[in-house]
Amino acid sequence: MSLLLAITGWHVESWRERFSALLPDLPIVTLGEPFDRRAVHYVASWKHPEGSLAGLPNLAAIFSLGAGVDHLFSDSRLPQAPIARVIDPDLTTRMSEYVVMHCLMQLRQQRRYERQQRERSWDDDRHQPAAREVRVGVMGLGELGQDAARKLQVIGFDVAGWSRSPKTIEGLATFSGEDGLTAFLARTDILVVLLPHTPETEGILNRPLLARLARDGRLGGPALINAGRGKLQVETDILAALDAGELREAVLDVFQTEPLPQDSRLWTHPAVTVTPHNSAMSAPETVADQIAAQIRRLEAGGELQNVVDPTRGY
Ligand code: NDP
Ligand code: OXD
Repeated sequence: MSLLLAITGWHVESWRERFSALLPDLPIVTLGEPFDRRAVHYVASWKHPEGSLAGLPNLAAIFSLGAGVDHLFSDSRLPQAPIARVIDPDLTTRMSEYVVMHCLMQLRQQRRYERQQRERSWDDDRHQPAAREVRVGVMGLGELGQDAARKLQVIGFDVAGWSRSPKTIEGLATFSGEDGLTAFLARTDILVVLLPHTPETEGILNRPLLARLARDGRLGGPALINAGRGKLQVETDILAALDAGELREAVLDVFQTEPLPQDSRLWTHPAVTVTPHNSAMSAPETVADQIAAQIRRLEAGGELQNVVDPTRGY
């Protein structure tokens, strides 16, 4: 029996080291080396190459090394096996830090003061809004969205959330489905996107949607923060909305193509902040621990936890 690490874009050896320490009796193999495919009972994947998991006849579970599982469902030859996602307090905390920081940068106009400093301009602003006057809308009220929403509320922002199914969350205004989207967007000054990429959400961040954001807010125009997935966004629409003044700023951690192509105008647009898909990194120190615990649980006859629903795609 073995665990196959099927990873691209991340440092495989850090994961191997951690898994070997946690599961000393379980052989750990990687895609880059010869291994017995019949012996593989478990796969831990991050963006494995399409088809590379085909022909594993004794597979018991596939673990995503990230919270998102779209990288698995995009493989048309993915073997039939239960898929478990990561729910990791460390990862969740990192994401909330990112969201809170960028909402505060919007509130406190950090880009403006950076520009002013470069120009040696002492232009103080006596009309700064309070957090309670700024409406943040969190798209996606799952593990990450709910934690970010809670922490934004602690800062004092006026927070609402939107999800697929209706939710009641104490102290949070909630909206759901297509029916709730218009009202949700109309009360949103900062749109925080923590949705998964599924067939339903692909391209959701387009110009018509951005045009439905609030225009009467204290920040002088709406801002977008997308840390969900790049395939949610139509980048030409975001640029067009920024150029037309329909969107004031965009903070993007994820992109239609990653790494972001050198010739993308997003790199240089004065109202865009680019971060390299690292708002909430999966750390081997915590994520491998959880997957090792799942494997031990399964080996002891227990149930796999954090299983995703392939019909929903998240
Ligand atoms: P969850 O699966 O816990 O939550 C997803 C949320 O999105 C749920 O509230 C769900 O609604 C909602 N949702 C899904 N589809 C729709 C839809 N069609 N319409 C409205 N709402 C929808 O995911 P997480 O919170 O853990 O993570 C969210 C995403 O964040 C991940 O899928 C991943 O893409 C991204 N991510 C990005 C990282 C980064 O570094 N940039 C790091 C980690 C994750 P409902 O509650 O009704 O099911
Ligand atoms: C994730 C990610 O899904 O890092 O965890 O994008």
